[in-house]
Amino acid sequence: MKKDMLTIHDLDVNGFNRIFNTAKKLKDQLYSGEVHDSLRGKTLGMLFDKSSTRTRLSFEAGIHQLGGTGIFLSRRDIQLGRGETVADTARVVSRYIDGIMIRTFEQDLIEEFAKYATIPVINGLTDLLHPCQVLSDIFTIIEKKGGYEGLKIAYIGDGNNMTNSWINAAARLPFHLAIACPEGYDPDEAILERGIGESKEGIEFLRIPADAASGADVIYTDVWASMGQEDEQEERVAAFRDYQVDEKLVGCAKDDAIIMHCLPAHRGEEIAASVIDGPQSVIIDQAENRLHVQKAIMEILMTGGDEK
Ligand code: CP
Ligand code: NVA
Repeated sequence: MKKDMLTIHDLDVNGFNRIFNTAKKLKDQLYSGEVHDSLRGKTLGMLFDKSSTRTRLSFEAGIHQLGGTGIFLSRRDIQLGRGETVADTARVVSRYIDGIMIRTFEQDLIEEFAKYATIPVINGLTDLLHPCQVLSDIFTIIEKKGGYEGLKIAYIGDGNNMTNSWINAAARLPFHLAIACPEGYDPDEAILERGIGESKEGIEFLRIPADAASGADVIYTDVWASMGQEDEQEERVAAFRDYQVDEKLVGCAKDDAIIMHCLPAHRGEEIAASVIDGPQSVIIDQAENRLHVQKAIMEILMTGGDEK
């Protein structure tokens, strides 16, 4: 595997399988009470420029469970926030810690950090991508559906970091992805073009939610205004009015379709309360799996990344 996890494209099919198999092993070990301290003595830095519940907790609890230590870093509190360069920060932190997870705005910052860091850099969300989330989501789909091959996954809503990450995953793995976004809120053009070119089972880019949801095995949605877009909330609510995942839309999917959301959610906006809290929703299991998958990513990258 590569040194870093900056995008799904850092993985080949073996890389995906290694993460999913390791996550399953770690989940089983945790459930059976077995101590597994593969990262004993190791330290993970966690640099946050944006809020987080799941990402912070899954990485921090995860490194602790693996016998290591997590250090929370906020830009406000470190010299990066006062103009120290990304390159100097990356080179210096590499002398103290064994890996770093970064949640920030620009993908470029993470890429630059990784260029100068000699330790693994993990993307904990940028405006462009959220690879750790989509890896946990696919792990959840494997648990719930027995695999992902040949499934239809429908993504309804904003063409944001989650959509881009789903497109990247569909470029690599054999499932069909159908996306419905309102005009003006499309995913990243280059990512979509590459995804359509590389996908084996196809990526459909649509405007009508029911077309995307039709016959789907999974319906996925995310907030209409992501972190950093709060001042667009009102105009986005108007633009996305017809894109709510409600019971009618769920009725277009297969009877045994599962409903997914990366969280945090806004009930009554992108998803109806009766759907997110209904019997087909898997959101809490999905959130739990962040822990197991983040542990797998840390274990693989922070013990050298090579096949063992
Ligand atoms: N899904 C997710 O990344 O949640 P947080 O923003 O709470 O980390
Ligand atoms: N698209 C959302 C995902 C949150 C996990 C955001 O960037 O805010």
